[in-house]
Amino acid sequence: MICLGIEGTAHTFGIGIVNSAGKVLANSTRTYVPEKGGIHPREAAQFHAAHARAVLDEALRTAKIEIEDIDLVAFSQGPGLGPVLRTAATAARALAVWLDVPIIGVNHCIAHMEIGRLTEGARDPVALYVSGGNTQVIAFDAGHYRIFGETIDIPIGNCLDVFAREIGIPHPGGPTVEKLAKDGKNYLPLPYVVKGMDLSFSGLMTEAIRRHREGANINDLCFSLQETAFAALVEVTERALAHTEKKEVLLTGGVAANGRLREMLKLMAREHHAKFFVPPKELCGDQGAMIAWNGILAYKSGFRQSIEDTKVKQRWRTDEVEVTWRRS
Ligand code: ATP
Ligand code: FE2
Repeated sequence: MICLGIEGTAHTFGIGIVNSAGKVLANSTRTYVPEKGGIHPREAAQFHAAHARAVLDEALRTAKIEIEDIDLVAFSQGPGLGPVLRTAATAARALAVWLDVPIIGVNHCIAHMEIGRLTEGARDPVALYVSGGNTQVIAFDAGHYRIFGETIDIPIGNCLDVFAREIGIPHPGGPTVEKLAKDGKNYLPLPYVVKGMDLSFSGLMTEAIRRHREGANINDLCFSLQETAFAALVEVTERALAHTEKKEVLLTGGVAANGRLREMLKLMAREHHAKFFVPPKELCGDQGAMIAWNGILAYKSGFRQSIEDTKVKQRWRTDEVEVTWRRS
């Protein structure tokens, strides 16, 4: 069986093609970069619509298949930005109806987890999913993917990007902050906020911007921002690991590209005798292969959807998803 997965929740429009053996045959993406400021949902949706055909053609070419070879269409049903979700869903419905194949809506956050389980061989990890739009600690428990901790305000990627933008670094700021942090030597105290199992990064971001205006050394500031934010992420992941007594840690999402975060999380996992996994960069960020693979898992478990069930869910929470493809 071959599944075509369409991703469209935020900046990236992606089409991935995956077979039922779990082989990624293609994974094409185009990413909308706002000219200035943050993401404009309608502009992003227009960008996705304008590039959908090219991405589809590229994916089919890479996979060396014809569109008629597709047996199943999956798409990101949520969570995400309304106009962007609707664009991907419309493309998915049109394809599924035209090809006369089944359609399955996939939860974007869970898809990040499932592609990590597929490619890295993690069986039952505690996952730290960190990106521009999401920050969650997720693990499977009693039939559901549960959120053990999450941000109560802005996601970590957004914290890094907005801080960077305010100090004149172009989008996305995360990679540049990482580079600058490498030459930081002095730790500047910044607000560290963990509330119960939840995280908060907005006070940290505001304070870092304020310290920059006061003339703090840029390398020290980037270093301190990373150390503070990542320590909080590692703390919550560690507590979820201890609580669930799982033996694996999976890091995913765009911020998983960060070497320092990987190092810190790996160290924590080692202390708990847990294995540490990070998918390759091209499977950590947003893309369609993870959607296609999650579609196959759901389909194989007997899950079916009618076109009426494919309405997008902007605020679809990880723990609301019916996980028909896992028992333990
Ligand atoms: P989502 O829809 O899952 O929230 P997204 O639109 O934010 O995803 P991703 O590709 O998953 O897209 O993640 C992009 C984020 O990753 C940006 O915030 C970017 O700054 C951050 N990022 C990328 N590389 C690094 C890095 N080396 N260090 C820190 N952050 C990074
Ligand atoms: Fe994502």
